[in-house]
Amino acid sequence: MSQKIILSKSINEEVAALCTAEYDKIFVLTDETTRSLCRNLLSDCEPLKTATDITIGATDTCKTIDTLADVWRALGNGGASRHSLLVCLGGGMVTDLGGFAASTFKRGIKFINIPTTLLAMVDAAVGGKTGINFNGLKNEIGVFNESMAVVIDTDFLRTLDDANLRSGYAEMLKHSFLQDEAMWAEHLAFDLDNPDYAHLQTMVAESIGVKSRIVTEDPHEKGLRKSLNLGHTVGHAFESLALEENRPVLHGYAVAWGLACELYLSVVLRNFPQDKMRQTVDFIRQTYGQFNFTCDHYDRLYNFMCHDKKNVGGVINFTLLSDVGQISLDNHATKAQLFEMFDFLREG
Ligand code: GLY
Repeated sequence: MSQKIILSKSINEEVAALCTAEYDKIFVLTDETTRSLCRNLLSDCEPLKTATDITIGATDTCKTIDTLADVWRALGNGGASRHSLLVCLGGGMVTDLGGFAASTFKRGIKFINIPTTLLAMVDAAVGGKTGINFNGLKNEIGVFNESMAVVIDTDFLRTLDDANLRSGYAEMLKHSFLQDEAMWAEHLAFDLDNPDYAHLQTMVAESIGVKSRIVTEDPHEKGLRKSLNLGHTVGHAFESLALEENRPVLHGYAVAWGLACELYLSVVLRNFPQDKMRQTVDFIRQTYGQFNFTCDHYDRLYNFMCHDKKNVGGVINFTLLSDVGQISLDNHATKAQLFEMFDFLREG
């Protein structure tokens, strides 16, 4: 991975050091929320004092081709050249869309990510996936292209609301499963009701380390990177169902419920230890509550999984585990097993 990960101690100095004289113009992309809550944290960054700000609407509903066109237009009207720099300051929507805008404007300009949510710090901003939603499908259009650097400042997390903190934490829990037993145990023991931010900071660094290691080995998701989909095949189905029924859930909550389901499948298909599955499912239930669904939803959820873009030849593809840190790619389950899995999640 050529992307530089900077664990920030003094964000204004670190960002200033990245904004070198090789760039003829600097643009800062924010959404309405990060413009008001986070932009001023960079007010002492000298090169950004003369930067051009571009602000887009917040939330995933703005991750569209129209917003992308607005960003391209703002870059063009602001005099951006191929030697300009885009600084993406925000959550995953801003880093994904901004990264895609930068990757395509004049065939590509450099960009840096400054993620402001836990989800973006440990996942979206790292690893080079960029894109927008299209035709009703999430992240349907995009390219793999890494930002020049990712600047992680966990001070942003102090202003993050509880639900978004928990949402990002689900991806950290997932990373711990891909690493080892010590990291997994540390994640089950962390108290999200009274977060110790200093401890969280070291855990964020470890979590990014896991993702970086995997992405370095397999940047284009031919093999090992598929392990980052743990919890996501089922999680995306919950997310899509909730969205369709106009009761959206945060991504990480859906991933956590999906993780509980895929651990159940891991027990059934890969002999994953039952006690570790049970401990994790209890943690997930305490931390994320329950996804509200009945057996009338099973066919719909199954259909969503059948349309997952990671499937090959229409067969649903699962990343499972035979133990913590023991990854098993490309598993398949029968429809009956999947329906039993849904029963398991509802009944515990
Ligand atoms: N969010 C999973 C990945 O970056 O591959």
